[in-house]
Amino acid sequence: MINSKLPEVGTTIFSVMSALANEHGAVNLSQGFPDFPIDNRLKSFVTQALDNNQVQYAPMPGRLDLREAISSKIEQQHGVKVDPITEITVTAGATQAIYTAITAIINEGDEVVLFDPAYDCYDPTIRVNKGVPVHLKLVHPTYHIDWNEVRQKVNSKTKLIITNNPHNPCGSVWTKADIIALESLVQESPQLMVLSDEVYEHIQYEDEHQSVLKSAILRERSFVTYSFGKTMHVTGWKLGYCIAPESFTAEFRKVHQYLVFCANNTMQYAVAEYLNAGEFWREVMPMYRKKKELFLEAIQESRFKPLQCSGTYFCLLDYSEISTLSDVEFAKELTTKYGVAAIPVSVFYEDQTDHKVIRICFAKQDETLIKAAQLLCKI
Ligand SMILES: Cc1ncc(COP(=O)(O)O)c(C=O)c1O
Repeated sequence: MINSKLPEVGTTIFSVMSALANEHGAVNLSQGFPDFPIDNRLKSFVTQALDNNQVQYAPMPGRLDLREAISSKIEQQHGVKVDPITEITVTAGATQAIYTAITAIINEGDEVVLFDPAYDCYDPTIRVNKGVPVHLKLVHPTYHIDWNEVRQKVNSKTKLIITNNPHNPCGSVWTKADIIALESLVQESPQLMVLSDEVYEHIQYEDEHQSVLKSAILRERSFVTYSFGKTMHVTGWKLGYCIAPESFTAEFRKVHQYLVFCANNTMQYAVAEYLNAGEFWREVMPMYRKKKELFLEAIQESRFKPLQCSGTYFCLLDYSEISTLSDVEFAKELTTKYGVAAIPVSVFYEDQTDHKVIRICFAKQDETLIKAAQLLCKI
């Protein structure tokens, strides 16, 4: 008999909703992935990689050409220098980077602060490593962090704080004040490290993205995770990276090399070429802003109330004027009766807090968004 390390984990809501959507032919706005074609230039670099026979293992920390391309991108973006040899590791998506960072530093009994609603891989990864997740709540409906509460919860056992900016599922983003609050927290707590999940760095609609990389104080205490899946619209490639100071990276790589050894070499080649070919990432946000505006305008006449969406390709819709059902029941009814699949936000809370909001993903072709909006307007 297996003594399960994760007894509470079952089938995720993403699989449940997608299966329901397929069964009922619903428009699927539940899972977070784009349904539009990728840039032809990126495709041609994949072909080039194959023509050049780039099909064997990459170096353990990632191809050097890719790490150098990442380093120069970060310098262009933030004016910050990151050493490609000692501070960047290419991973099989941000998920592997998150798993590896947590596994590298969390020992039995270490406390880890995280914020609900939380992206689904954080909590189980802490628990599989025998850490103790300390769930705090983002303040509804703006979904910002209450730093006073964080200060009260952090103690000598708190090893790590996990942050996510821009935020999935809420679409909230950090201001400079959040960076300052986190800076003073790590200065007061010498054992505290940060895992800053910044996979949606290029999808922020107002002001500039507040990366922890821009803070000298935070940079030396942080693992920062990114995903090419999100910025190049290729979630299925599962390619990302982790930036961390040299001593953190050394521990990170000890786990990385036995978890995967290296990430997919063919795709690393293509991504490196694409990064070197131009600043494609500057086109990402304007493209998503158009989609967000198209969708929000199309549901204006509906009874759904969209909450503020300052970043990511997700938007929360308050349905409290329409139904008193729990968000899980409402999301099922929305799929089976009205033909639109969405994710109930309570599933991102440890205690299933239900604010009567659902999450929709607008990384979809315009026709799909219009079709979904028409269905939502009928409810
Ligand atoms: C907040 C957040 N972090 C990490 C990931 C995982 O990224 P990847 O697909 O590169 O593993 C996702 C994907 O949805 C995400 O939304």
